[in-house]
Amino acid sequence: MRTDGIALPEAGIAGRAATLLAELGERAECCSLYDEDGSSIYHELAQQDHHEVRELISLVRGTAPGPVLDLAAGSGRLTMPLLALGREVTALELSPSMLDLLRERLGKAPAGLRGRATLVQGDMSDFALGSAFACVVLATTSISLLDETGRAGLYASVRRHLAPGGRFLLTTVDLDGSGPAERELNFSTAAGNDYRMFEYWEPGMEARVVSIFPARYDEGPVRVGLTSIRVLPADRLEAELNASGLRVAARHPLPPVGERHHSTLLEVEVAA
Ligand SMILES: C[S@@+](CC[C@H](N)C(=O)[O-])C[C@H]1O[C@@H](n2cnc3c(N)ncnc32)[C@H](O)[C@@H]1O
Repeated sequence: MRTDGIALPEAGIAGRAATLLAELGERAECCSLYDEDGSSIYHELAQQDHHEVRELISLVRGTAPGPVLDLAAGSGRLTMPLLALGREVTALELSPSMLDLLRERLGKAPAGLRGRATLVQGDMSDFALGSAFACVVLATTSISLLDETGRAGLYASVRRHLAPGGRFLLTTVDLDGSGPAERELNFSTAAGNDYRMFEYWEPGMEARVVSIFPARYDEGPVRVGLTSIRVLPADRLEAELNASGLRVAARHPLPPVGERHHSTLLEVEVAA
């Protein structure tokens, strides 16, 4: 299996995904879902994933007027609808490949909308933008990509960037331990590609491992996208936020994405 030196969660790859990887052997070209090779797979899937967008956008619409910060913006799944609200939006993202995809997307958008977007390559666990935001958004359970130290840095950075009365909106997914450890989902994308996505998690594991394979392949290399997502229950995040001088003003349950996933949107403010 080729990994091109990327730190990958091989240790957690189990079940059918592990069998497929073993069958592919040297033909498997593993990549992170957010790097130069994997970001196009993520982008293809994200374009048809509307989960939590309506709920987040409707909460942002209810916040005080002012600029919005979209953290871990990826290729703009949230950035685009946030801009469509008529707000100034700063999209902060670590991966240059993801930012390139967002730039390309903005290039095709109306000039008025494009003109309100600012793209920043940065780390959500430690940023200093020199401005305040009415709303900071962290979607798609992306907080799960940070370890405890990273999350503490994120909370401190967000706190410094919230305008008075501002809101921090973030989503998280908890899993229940019922049923099999591995789930498979099949996707067909607008680009005409079919994918098999495997998610592996057993109760007690810190993270679930997601692997995405093409549904069919012939001879030659096969690109496999991998990511590892920590399982962070809302209660745990609420305790961490409290310890960082932030306060959960409301919890909004989100429609389930799978039978064992429980998604929650946390609406957070600076503690008095
Ligand atoms: C699950 S994707 C979410 C992207 C986008 N918000 C969406 O809804 O499609 C997570 C994103 O977080 C980015 N990311 C990972 N670690 C990061 C960090 N420390 N700071 C900023 N972005 C990060 C990844 O490159 C990826 O684009």
